[in-house]
Amino acid sequence: MKILGIETSCDETAAAVVEDGTTILSSVVASQIEVHKPYGGVVPELASRKHVEAIVPVVQQALEGSGIAPESVDAVAVTRGPGLVGALLVGFTFAKAWAYARNLPWIGVNHLEGHINSVFLTATPPAFPFVALLVSGGHTSIYHVTGHTGVELMGQTRDDAAGEAFDKVAKMLGLGYPGGGIIGKLSKKGDPAAIKFPRSYLDKAAFDFSFSGLKSAVRRYIETHQTDYRERTPDITAGFQEAVVDVLAFKLINAARVKACRTIAVVGGVAANERLREKVAAEAAESGLAVHIPPLELCGDNAAMIAAVGYHYLKEGKRSALGDDVFSTTRMGI
Ligand code: KG4
Ligand code: ZN
Repeated sequence: MKILGIETSCDETAAAVVEDGTTILSSVVASQIEVHKPYGGVVPELASRKHVEAIVPVVQQALEGSGIAPESVDAVAVTRGPGLVGALLVGFTFAKAWAYARNLPWIGVNHLEGHINSVFLTATPPAFPFVALLVSGGHTSIYHVTGHTGVELMGQTRDDAAGEAFDKVAKMLGLGYPGGGIIGKLSKKGDPAAIKFPRSYLDKAAFDFSFSGLKSAVRRYIETHQTDYRERTPDITAGFQEAVVDVLAFKLINAARVKACRTIAVVGGVAANERLREKVAAEAAESGLAVHIPPLELCGDNAAMIAAVGYHYLKEGKRSALGDDVFSTTRMGI
């Protein structure tokens, strides 16, 4: 089954053609970073307008790049939520219309389940069950994954998402937007042990996260070191990154132990972080766990992961109705 996937939940307009939920025939991602950069964050109204401009050319490029004729597409999968409502509506309405005009089945899917399914687009997909850490700009959660559409939430952040904390710390230090990649690179020049920032484990046996205390600690450090904090920026970012990564890796490994899973996965935009990939790999090796982290182009938002999860819902016989709407808030399922 060849599925056209469409994703417009935040600041990326993306389309992809994926066969049988595993083989990417094409994947196009048009980023809006340059549009939002001057504001230091995503401006929802601008995001919606840019999606309107980009959606037709991006879908066209994905279809052309797939090497199949548009008539050979069997179904359409599109992000239904969570995300920015105005942004979601562009892709959702486009997908509805495209499928309706061709009399094709279509399905609205959950963006978070898309990220979790991104590991099935690799040459060596994981076996069920596994525990997945989802770390992005909007979410930080741990799931027990028993099937492509069977996902149980074990814990999530009570305040900022990990990616949001990276972005806010980068903003405090005047490093630019989005901050995750910039902090990752700069931290290689710093000493992660030079400045000790707090690790917020909350209940060590549970799986909720909190990053607001760490963010405040970085702000306090800057306020109390006004004369020299600029020269110490690589040490600050390395210390901050290490504090985030320590907690993420600890909770992920512990979740696998609690659920007696031998396999773990890390997905979402922050899964691109080299230090996180390295630390999770090292701790998993110590515990004898298999690790699955997608390649960089599948960590950030993309439409291939949407087509991948859509395939499994369609195979189960699920379909969306023309009257369906998008949803903004965090939940699982379609
Ligand atoms: O999954 P994603 O593309 O969008 C959401 O669904 O949120 O994640 C974007 C987030 C941003 O906060 C960005 O700063 C973060 O992922 N990010 C990183 C890295 N690359 C992107 N965070 C840490 N290290 C990175 N290398
Ligand atoms: Zn995402």
